[in-house]
Amino acid sequence: MDIARTPSTPDGNQHLADAAPEPQEPAIIRREDYTPFAWNLPEVHLHFELGLEETHVTAKLSVERNPQAEASPTIRLNGDELEPQSVAVDGEQVDSWTMDDGDLLVSLPGDAHEIVIETTINPAANTKLMGLFASNGMLCTQCEAEGFRRITFFPDRPDVLSVYSVRMSGTKAAFPVLLANGNLEESGEEADGTHWAEWHDPWPKPSYLFALVAGDLVSNTDTFITASGREVTCNIYVREGDEGRTGHAMESLKKSMRWDEETFGREYDLDLYNIVAVSDFNMGAMENKGLNVFNTKYVLADEETATDGDFDGVEGVIAHEYFHNWSGNRVTCRDWFQLSLKEGFTVLRDQLFSQDMGSAPVKRIEDVRVLRGAQFPEDSGPLAHPIRPDSYREISNFYTATVYNKGAEVIRMMRTMCGPERFRQGTGLYFERHDGEAATCEDFVKAMEDGAGLDLTQFRLWYSQAGTPKITARLEKDGEDAVLHLSQEVPPTPGQESKSPMPIPLRTAIFDRETGKHGGEQLVTLTEAQGSFRFGNVGASPVLSINRGFSAPVTMSRDVSDEDLVFLAAHDDDPFARYEALQDLVVGHLQHAVSGELSDDDRDSAREAIASAIGSVLADDSLDDLMRGELLVLPTEGYLAETMAIADPGRIHEERAALRSAIGAQLEDQFAAMHERASAVPYSLSAEARGARKVKTQALIYMAAGNPDRGKAMAWEQYQAADNMTDRQGALMVLAGADGIKRTNALLDFYNRFKGNALVIDKWFSLQSMSTHPGVIEHVKALADHPEFTLKNPNRVRSLYMGFAVNQNAFHDPSGEGYRVIADLILALDPINPQTAARFVTPLGRWRRIEPDRSALMKAQLERIAKAPGLSRDTHEQVSRSLG
Ligand code: PHE
Ligand code: ZN
Repeated sequence: MDIARTPSTPDGNQHLADAAPEPQEPAIIRREDYTPFAWNLPEVHLHFELGLEETHVTAKLSVERNPQAEASPTIRLNGDELEPQSVAVDGEQVDSWTMDDGDLLVSLPGDAHEIVIETTINPAANTKLMGLFASNGMLCTQCEAEGFRRITFFPDRPDVLSVYSVRMSGTKAAFPVLLANGNLEESGEEADGTHWAEWHDPWPKPSYLFALVAGDLVSNTDTFITASGREVTCNIYVREGDEGRTGHAMESLKKSMRWDEETFGREYDLDLYNIVAVSDFNMGAMENKGLNVFNTKYVLADEETATDGDFDGVEGVIAHEYFHNWSGNRVTCRDWFQLSLKEGFTVLRDQLFSQDMGSAPVKRIEDVRVLRGAQFPEDSGPLAHPIRPDSYREISNFYTATVYNKGAEVIRMMRTMCGPERFRQGTGLYFERHDGEAATCEDFVKAMEDGAGLDLTQFRLWYSQAGTPKITARLEKDGEDAVLHLSQEVPPTPGQESKSPMPIPLRTAIFDRETGKHGGEQLVTLTEAQGSFRFGNVGASPVLSINRGFSAPVTMSRDVSDEDLVFLAAHDDDPFARYEALQDLVVGHLQHAVSGELSDDDRDSAREAIASAIGSVLADDSLDDLMRGELLVLPTEGYLAETMAIADPGRIHEERAALRSAIGAQLEDQFAAMHERASAVPYSLSAEARGARKVKTQALIYMAAGNPDRGKAMAWEQYQAADNMTDRQGALMVLAGADGIKRTNALLDFYNRFKGNALVIDKWFSLQSMSTHPGVIEHVKALADHPEFTLKNPNRVRSLYMGFAVNQNAFHDPSGEGYRVIADLILALDPINPQTAARFVTPLGRWRRIEPDRSALMKAQLERIAKAPGLSRDTHEQVSRSLG
């Protein structure tokens, strides 16, 4: 950018003065401005002299002019909070370098040079957890998206691919294990107590995939033989004492490796696959080539400390990072606007994997629940952006449910349109065509057109237009036929006022109410604003089942009666559609009830009708418990708010809670019987036993609502009898919502039982912050002063405050105190960890969709944050978008 601005001076201190931050609006980066980098860096040699408080880095970069790019007399090497200690070009110290906005600019006269740069960093002071940081005495890196520039000066952009060699040395006592990407080439010891290792990664990669780990770790080691016979050593490194909880992660890794061979024809390409678990981490995990770094939350699991949901989380994230080896690493992204190229695709891959490992319908329902809970609100709020954004100020803010989860839905639609075989041909062509390249979303779409034989001309709108399409559907009887009338509307989003109609693939079936059957499912694709589709011989009373399997990520308003929904809830042969019918029944009722348009009688009879539909779910022998448990989950308050133009969170909470009590009261004995039946199933990881645990806790939730004393007594009993975390946490959740000595005793017992196990203590915090107890705000304030609470650990921060922010009843307390708690947190956390702080802006950003009194209080807190001096780029961007 602004190369001429900073005068070049030979004085090192002068350089630093130039680099002093000036308060200014952070620049907007635009997708359309992409240009290739002027230089190629075929080889990078890094030398680390490791220390917790002082690590010395020497980077040797071979640079050559990029014939594909416009020539430049200088090279811009990005830096963030770095000072160059020395810069040499072709063996000569140079002092003609300049600094610009943290970056180092070096003039290069010729076509090829070798640059050597020395820097010193302080990992222990790195609370942002980006770059090289210390965690529990170990050293570890996080480079995606722009962390490498905090280690050394470098063209820190994903389209610069280099072969890395790393030499690292440090005290053997402090850092007995030394790891980096690729293969260990050589290692040795010195007489002074230091040791060293040299690693080489033969695969060219962008800097965001670099990783280094040094620490006192033990490993669970196993081997995997690839389809072509390569023996891969798999290590999972953890702190001593945790190795007994790595078995599930290892099994998940080996299953993922096999599955990707079978399903996508992708084989692993190194002799070593290392995973390291760290307890201080901003995200879930990171796919660094050959050296994944994981949040402990997604590695460690055993029955005593992890719930069934946690086991699924480990399996899914292990798979996700493994699948990145092809969708992300072998084929990477040209620029960060293409993030969904790797993330959307990899999320789809991990979803399909988990569908194959467990119950496919249940997994689909869970994935849709995540989409609706996190992505729909994003798409209808101030932070809405297309899956391929057009601009950003801080890329960390774009690791979103839109890029990840909607991105996965978009690729899933392609798969639905062409079928699994042609989909595999398309992805096969994509991998083959772009192996070793930094590609774009457009490259992916083109490969799907060429390889899968799809015409995606109009479909590309899914990449460029934000907003969740709203579909309306009406079935009209016409003689022997029925005509399906569809219309679509894509709502305006920030920066996109008017939209074009998109292709909406809807799996559709018309049931005959008399026979309970349908004449075959069809894929109906709406491509215009309106469209009509004729179905022949539908019988006397046709019932519409549409968007089966959630084939398109849209909202659907369908003109069907409650009787039809009850029919579909009981008879639809598509499990997702069955779930959806029951959800629609509940959502429809709660919308009416909240709006105040129901008479008391109508409300009572609606509650009764829903309870009897739920009663059929309890009684239906054809359902397995995993699916039954899924059907029993009521839509969340957050999702209900999302279905309303302006939401009153207080009314939503009241009506939903009253419905749950009514169901619990009406079906008390059935729930008790189900709880008793399920309690007899012994612990195992089988679908049957997991299903039993799921319905057990659902039964407690309803019973505690319908008959609090009986529910509490049963929860206490379940807590006492629990031989696994799923039962224990489920029971404690119910107890934490109620007053009394059982609550106090159970929380105390849980704390004492698991003291020292950070992941379980996280649960203890979140069980309280997510609780239905009326005193949550006071509890959260008190917990913030608990000795085990710290702003430095993202898991702990999330467990207390994300739990609270999603707790609609507490967060939206009419006093506005919930908003203040979150704003205070953002202001306190921003200087420590801006990336994590910025994520808490989203809940406040919902202010335009909340009733006026609360809305004003939310907005006032956003304005208060906006005024704070020295706000990070991360938080600043999110707050100004939220107010804008
Ligand atoms: N790329 C990681 C993943 O989705 C996520 C991540 C992003 C981790 C940024 C750390 C920092 O697999
Ligand atoms: Zn990912």
